[in-house]
Amino acid sequence: MSESAKKLFVKTYGCQMNVYDSERMAAALAPKGYSRTETPEDADLILLNTCHIREKAAEKVYSELGRLNPLKQSNPDLRIGVAGCVAQAEGEEILSRAPGVDLVVGPQVYHRLPKMLEQVQAGERPLETDFPEEDKFDHLPDWAATRKSPTAFLTIQEGCDKFCAFCVVPYTRGAEVSRPAGRVEQEARQLAERGVVEITLLGQNVNAYCDVDGVTLAGLVDRLSKIEGLQRIRYTTSHPNDMADDLIDAHAREEKLMPYLHLPVQSGSDRILKAMNRKHTAAEYLALIERIRAARPDMAFSGDFIVGFPGETDEDFEATLRIVEQVRYAHAYSFIYSPRPGTPAAGREDVPQDVKSERLQRLQALIKQYQVEFQENLVGRTLPVLLEKPGRNPGQMTGKSPYLTAVHLDAPKSLAGSIVDVRITASAPNSLSGELVG
Ligand code: SAH
Ligand code: SF4
Ligand code: F3S
Repeated sequence: MSESAKKLFVKTYGCQMNVYDSERMAAALAPKGYSRTETPEDADLILLNTCHIREKAAEKVYSELGRLNPLKQSNPDLRIGVAGCVAQAEGEEILSRAPGVDLVVGPQVYHRLPKMLEQVQAGERPLETDFPEEDKFDHLPDWAATRKSPTAFLTIQEGCDKFCAFCVVPYTRGAEVSRPAGRVEQEARQLAERGVVEITLLGQNVNAYCDVDGVTLAGLVDRLSKIEGLQRIRYTTSHPNDMADDLIDAHAREEKLMPYLHLPVQSGSDRILKAMNRKHTAAEYLALIERIRAARPDMAFSGDFIVGFPGETDEDFEATLRIVEQVRYAHAYSFIYSPRPGTPAAGREDVPQDVKSERLQRLQALIKQYQVEFQENLVGRTLPVLLEKPGRNPGQMTGKSPYLTAVHLDAPKSLAGSIVDVRITASAPNSLSGELVG
């Protein structure tokens, strides 16, 4: 029996896996009578689904909790929960630092949320951050019915065994685990039946995917590509060392596999790559890029970079600029190194803040230059665009090119969810505009 109607507000920080987890948490709470609201003031339960990747990410959570205090004072029945990677890393600390928090739940146990809410009702402040034997996905309700967009994320692999020296993910998400291909396929089918045409497969190391029966990511893509209605498949994030031959081959053969690959390298300096424990050199990474381009010549690459890793010299940084020039990324993210407690690099001597900031600016300017070049090369071409949602102006729709660039165009709302041919007419800093063909 469903319980009385209540409102849930979820705020999501961090990576796409958190976006997916937020949807599944909301679905887990639906049988308890919760439906989602976009306004925290209306909520009976607020969940912050947090990220711990950089220092600012965690601090943001504490300031958000501070901002929520007045809401809690005006509505004593309001419940506040902290989920995600900060919950995992700082569980006890959150309960002591933020008295307004009613529950703390880690990323591997959120299927227990309904039970935890009962504990809250009984006056407890439950904290669950273990890495349980059971698989949370076996205990979560279907969520396809709640989808309204033609695109969806689908987590297929979680956790990380790589232990890059700067990164908290192996500690917050635990060891690498791949979901059984059959279960992933079932979820993808349900999504496709609900009108989802593009699925992005998620994993902290998605290309390390290998299920109990030995199905690899390439094998999984083959299976998913047979699902009727599902037209586009993407996956993220990949580690260069797990870019297997069968996956590269899949890019040559499988039309539904989109020509966009997020393949972080972090640094262009072999010395820094070694200190980061990335286990490959810059030359190996570049050779890999070439092999992928040979299989799929129009592949658009994206990446992540860290500047100011401990010990990074000007020369090391120059090597990072050079790798950007060589790969000509369509898009890339860059971050200032942030020491994370408990990670191997945390105790090493830090690069001064002003040096880090200056390097970040130079790197971002160069990345931007290649992004502009990439987008301008698309002007004049006709691309298949998946129309996703109404655009900024009336009569406009926003969609996505195969290369993940946002495209704005005049199109009727009735076309939402279809893939249409669009002639690209102009490039703006972070998007393209175009017109319907035919
Ligand atoms: N699993 C993915 C990405 C995980 S985190 C991968 O292996 O590539 C996303 C990005 O955040 C990383 O690629 C890295 O560039 C950045 N990042 C991680 N830890 C960081 C830290 N301590 N300081 C700054 N950036 C960091
Ligand atoms: Fe973090 Fe490295 Fe694992 Fe990516 S591969 S999640 S950067 S430890
Ligand atoms: Fe952040 Fe956790 Fe994702 S630390 S980037 S939310 S895996």
